[in-house]
Amino acid sequence: MSDADQAALAALCLAVDAPSLDEARRWAEPLAGQVGVLKIGLELFTREGPAAVAWARSLGRDVFLDLKLHDIPQTVERAVASASALGARFLTLHASGGAAMLERAARRARGEGAGLRLLAITVLTSLDGSDLAAIGVPRSPGDHALALARLAREAGVEGFVCSGAEVGALRGALPDAFLVTPGVRPRGARDAADDQRRVVTAEEAVAAGSDLVVVGRPLRDALDPEAAARALRADIAAGLARRRCPS
Ligand code: C5P
Repeated sequence: MSDADQAALAALCLAVDAPSLDEARRWAEPLAGQVGVLKIGLELFTREGPAAVAWARSLGRDVFLDLKLHDIPQTVERAVASASALGARFLTLHASGGAAMLERAARRARGEGAGLRLLAITVLTSLDGSDLAAIGVPRSPGDHALALARLAREAGVEGFVCSGAEVGALRGALPDAFLVTPGVRPRGARDAADDQRRVVTAEEAVAAGSDLVVVGRPLRDALDPEAAARALRADIAAGLARRRCPS
């Protein structure tokens, strides 16, 4: 595999959104070699726990544990240690948990020395301006997301989850951050956005500065999932090339 193919593979994450490990094995296992990272979310982890992480690791992939932690600093710090011990490579937490929570989580992730990278969630894409106003946040979602990202960065968190619409702004504000983008659709499949509000292609996301694109249903539900993964990797490779040589 060429360096470019390797880089594209590493930048593609499959969201294993399944209700059970049996179900995950059925459709995600044949795809594991087509992606660099497997994302285990709340649905699967709540049912199967550490066995889900062990399964994904047994396939030789990096594991993205999408637990969106948000609690008092000590509890989150200890959960970070637990995730690190499971061998997860990425773990999400809410930037809105505050500076102390973020600092302790980041320090613990580094201290464990197992290579766990934290990814901060800023504003959930399911929230709009009126939702924020209703919970007492007067800022727009974009301004709030940027403010929370800066807070998390100052606390030592180096990774962020952001939509395709935000990735360019975040890349501009935080040049060294590791950026992860869900809501990505294969080229030509933008209409099949499912319940995602704003979708981008993998090429657009990566060209704008995303380091890892997360794709679920477009791979799970594809008639030929392997071909879909190949097409996504080609899109990512094109995005990486555009980033190296902006036209
Ligand atoms: O199936 P689809 O490609 O839409 O899956 C996207 C994955 O990314 C899901 O696991 C979803 O929970 C997650 N995600 C998202 N939008 C966000 C954050 C996470 O779709 N803003």
